[in-house]
Amino acid sequence: MNAIFDKIAFQYDENRGGERRGLQFSEAIEPLIDKNRRVLEMGVGTGVVAGALQNKGYDIIGIDVSSEMLRRAVDRVTALVWSDMNKLPFLDGFFGCVYSVWALHLADDITKALKEVRRTLDDGGCFINCSAANAGVSPPKDPAGQIVAEMQLQLSGPQLSRDAPEELEKLCGEAGFEFETVVNLSHSYKTSVTEVLLHIERNGMSTLVKASEDQRRDIIEPALAKLRDIPNPDDEIIRDRVHQFAVLRAV
Ligand SMILES: C[S@@+](CC[C@H](N)C(=O)[O-])C[C@H]1O[C@@H](n2cnc3c(N)ncnc32)[C@H](O)[C@@H]1O
Repeated sequence: MNAIFDKIAFQYDENRGGERRGLQFSEAIEPLIDKNRRVLEMGVGTGVVAGALQNKGYDIIGIDVSSEMLRRAVDRVTALVWSDMNKLPFLDGFFGCVYSVWALHLADDITKALKEVRRTLDDGGCFINCSAANAGVSPPKDPAGQIVAEMQLQLSGPQLSRDAPEELEKLCGEAGFEFETVVNLSHSYKTSVTEVLLHIERNGMSTLVKASEDQRRDIIEPALAKLRDIPNPDDEIIRDRVHQFAVLRAV
């Protein structure tokens, strides 16, 4: 399995809020899921969200293509499967709920992935998706955040928005879902220009790992140069972000 995240697994928790973020995200998901039903996280990563839900008594199974991410999830989540969301290794109707955080946009084909989720859900079950494409709802206000958002957009193109709520709303009927609602979660964290620079220099994002030599020269290096020009790089930056959880009902 092609697993870009194998290369960034060692620094993933440090860069993406770790267990603190996992707990906050689990609090957005918890009211939407049923404690008496099996729950799947697609693209479970290091298990920070699934681990928080498991600690609250939910019966969670996590799948991921990255063995290095899964290796970090084993202390948090009991049931893990090294597997691909494009072809889920579960029986029809096996789950009462499937959720995914920052992962569905990585599917080969979003409609096919949604159909695959629908297959594994019981009628009336729900799919909750937190898209990574939240720049539209909470664009970064600080110069470093704006430089990185622009760089990300240039590197990933429209891929990041493939699973935004408005896109899922268009696709869900064909996949056997009704679009129910969007739940917003506000999340803030501290960073600095120095931390942002380090994150990029260490290739801490999947788009950086995949970047071609041309993209490195034309997109990443100019972004790094702009970041290095920002004065007082160690000053604290507070980032406020809104994460959107789209809720789809299996019909
Ligand atoms: C940005 S991480 C999100 C991890 C976790 N959901 C979280 O909130 O931290 C995306 C995850 O999706 C996984 N992934 C990418 N493509 C996948 C696929 N086709 N099937 C299953 N997992 C996949 C990656 O390996 C990575 O662990």
